[in-house]
Amino acid sequence: MTQFKKWQIKKSRTFNDSIAGYEWLCMDVGTENMKARYVNTGLRFDEPSYIAEDYEKNRVYFGEEAKALVDKTNENIIIKRPVRDGNIADPQALERILIRIFDHFKISKATKKKLIVIMATPSDINPVQRAALESIVTKLGASRGFVQEEVKMSALGAGQDIFGTSIMSVDMGGGSTDIAVISKDSILHSTSSYCAGDYLTEKIREHILRTKAVHIGLKETEELKKAIASLVPGPNEQPYRVSGLLIPKDSAKSGEVLAISKTIYVTPEEIREVMQREFREHIIPAIRKVLRISTEKALGSVADLKKLGKGITISGGGAYIRGIDKFIQDELSKEYHLEAYDEHGNIVSDEVYEGDEFEVRCSAEPLYDVINGCVKYRDEIYREILEEKKFNLFRKSKSSIYRLR
Ligand SMILES: Nc1ncnc2c1ncn2[C@@H]1O[C@H](COP(=O)(O)OP(=O)(O)OP(=O)(O)O)[C@@H](O)[C@H]1O
Ligand SMILES: [Mg+2]
Repeated sequence: MTQFKKWQIKKSRTFNDSIAGYEWLCMDVGTENMKARYVNTGLRFDEPSYIAEDYEKNRVYFGEEAKALVDKTNENIIIKRPVRDGNIADPQALERILIRIFDHFKISKATKKKLIVIMATPSDINPVQRAALESIVTKLGASRGFVQEEVKMSALGAGQDIFGTSIMSVDMGGGSTDIAVISKDSILHSTSSYCAGDYLTEKIREHILRTKAVHIGLKETEELKKAIASLVPGPNEQPYRVSGLLIPKDSAKSGEVLAISKTIYVTPEEIREVMQREFREHIIPAIRKVLRISTEKALGSVADLKKLGKGITISGGGAYIRGIDKFIQDELSKEYHLEAYDEHGNIVSDEVYEGDEFEVRCSAEPLYDVINGCVKYRDEIYREILEEKKFNLFRKSKSSIYRLR
């Protein structure tokens, strides 16, 4: 009888739990930017995901200060980036940034006991990395850590109904472009491409080096990209002025590198060519692949996307590329070839498919969709915690019955 009473008290306590009874910290663990929101206080954290270690001065820099050193690295300065190419590349660096975020929000030891951390990461991280991330936050004192795919969170944050049927989301960040068809709160099919912000910056840099023999810094190239990169022509396009280091054509042969600074003008048309080529090679085929496989997995998925007029939503920094929505929409509507190979590498079919008419649109707040999605997703996490508690309670009550016997 006493056993039963104890069980009842515990049960009522659990059921009086509420979402407000927890502290919620939501994080967008990005390649380029680390964003966090402490939901209970509304406080925010937003800084580049960079750490710079200066061994000469014996100093460590974070965020903007560290990013400013990107083009100034030498044997004494090392730049660390926790997330690279859609993966957790440096867990120790990530842990240091997490400590910084916890300090920033001044989360006390007592509060941490009720703290639930939701982390959105690139979709491609493996279960071991996922478990490692969840354990890092519990090691730092949080009650629980939950890792979610950022493409799902960005869809939710952009206002898509991820709990209904078939929606498509494209999140083009700094390190990866995640593309997914989501249905009933789960990813039907997704893929990840390295063709994202960092890669495009690198391609622009290569183009300038090849065509103008001028080497420009990563930061300058990134600024140039933000200023003039586009996928369709727009009004009032102006050439962009940028300075770099002149690399004489025969320097490779002579081994001579001249430190002569040169100012050049780069036109929006030439950058557009680079961008369109990369999109046609990587992004458009990746979107088509996800659409096709999702259709095979769940009949009518593509038809569903079209019928309901849900179309495709683009989030992440890539959504700022001028004309990205129109370009993707136009490219998807064109007919395309799809080659299938046998095990010997011979083409067994070379079918031509009709294009798909989709409405493609950019989210209104592309840089904040993921974090907004995590904040909205708390209800689901809370439900999961309650289910877990109910299950544990049930297990305990059962084991006490067995013990009584
Ligand atoms: N106006 C713009 N034009 C083109 N690219 C832009 C613009 N603004 C931001 N970007 C690019 O967006 C990228 C950063 O986007 P975002 O903050 O979504 O990345 P992230 O979430 O840190 O990365 P990931 O999701 O891959 O881990 C950078 O590569 C940046 O160059
Ligand atoms: Mg991102």
